[in-house]
Amino acid sequence: MITSSAPGKIFLFGEHAVVYGKTAIACAIDLRAHVTVDEAPSIQMKGPGGSIDLNPRKHPYIYSVVEKFKGLTDVTGVSIDIHSDIPVGSGLGSSAAVTIATIKALDAYYETNLTLEDIAQMGHLVESEVQGRASPTDTFVSTFGGMVQIPDRKKLGFHDMLIVIGNTGKFSSTRKIVSNVAALRERHPIVIGQIMDTISAISETGVDFIQEGDFHTVGELMNINQGLLDSIGVGSKELSELVYASRKAGALGSKITGAGGGGCMIALCEHKNLSRVAHAVKRAGGDSFICRTSNTGVRIE
Ligand code: PMV
Repeated sequence: MITSSAPGKIFLFGEHAVVYGKTAIACAIDLRAHVTVDEAPSIQMKGPGGSIDLNPRKHPYIYSVVEKFKGLTDVTGVSIDIHSDIPVGSGLGSSAAVTIATIKALDAYYETNLTLEDIAQMGHLVESEVQGRASPTDTFVSTFGGMVQIPDRKKLGFHDMLIVIGNTGKFSSTRKIVSNVAALRERHPIVIGQIMDTISAISETGVDFIQEGDFHTVGELMNINQGLLDSIGVGSKELSELVYASRKAGALGSKITGAGGGGCMIALCEHKNLSRVAHAVKRAGGDSFICRTSNTGVRIE
């Protein structure tokens, strides 16, 4: 029996701009997906109600991972059991974490000796197949952990940061929101182009302040980034309420993380304000939880 785990992620800066080749900073968090594989008579998914055979419609990510392993080795019966702390469909990279943890567990189980680069690449292929289009951000961050500059895939020096995540509980389709932004950009190429350039400049400026541990300035830049995300139409009333509530309670900075439209916001906090911010986000209607940035990528438990 083998168990592996992989982290979810947040965007400190730069989502949407990264779609146009601009700079973003993403970071792994200490919420993880755990996957346990064990010998079984067929390829099965374990669940609370017992085991069922792997089904491409019900388990598209795992199915696609198993298909990839069939090209590498003789895939015998195996049961796959998933437990994840990461809320699904909320922009925290839950599908990537499950995909990467499954690849790592099967790699150890079948002794296929994949490198971290191989794992990240296979994970990205799987996400692209299942979602139609996927940026490599989530799978890269989930594999390597830590803070990553995108699109360069450059790992930055790690800093422990305290984050309150506020989940609106509203599902949003990344594909739809990305296409809305593309349409807005077509209508206003110069204006939106300059906004994307400014978001990129925020990410680049932010790197230096993250490295210096100047989180007051990082928070300020997050707030500016949030204003620009609102300006391209990816905000929502619910997200704004959580963002403003967190700032009023003392967050250093707060913004949407991921595609927006729904899903989650993040608030960067000092230790002294952490629970006050988490309560404020809850009172403003969000499901709030506290997490930290994490330097730990995929690993065998
Ligand atoms: O909501 P998420 O975590 O899938 O993030 C989407 C981030 C975008 O920049 C909007 C799209 C992308 O693929 O990078």
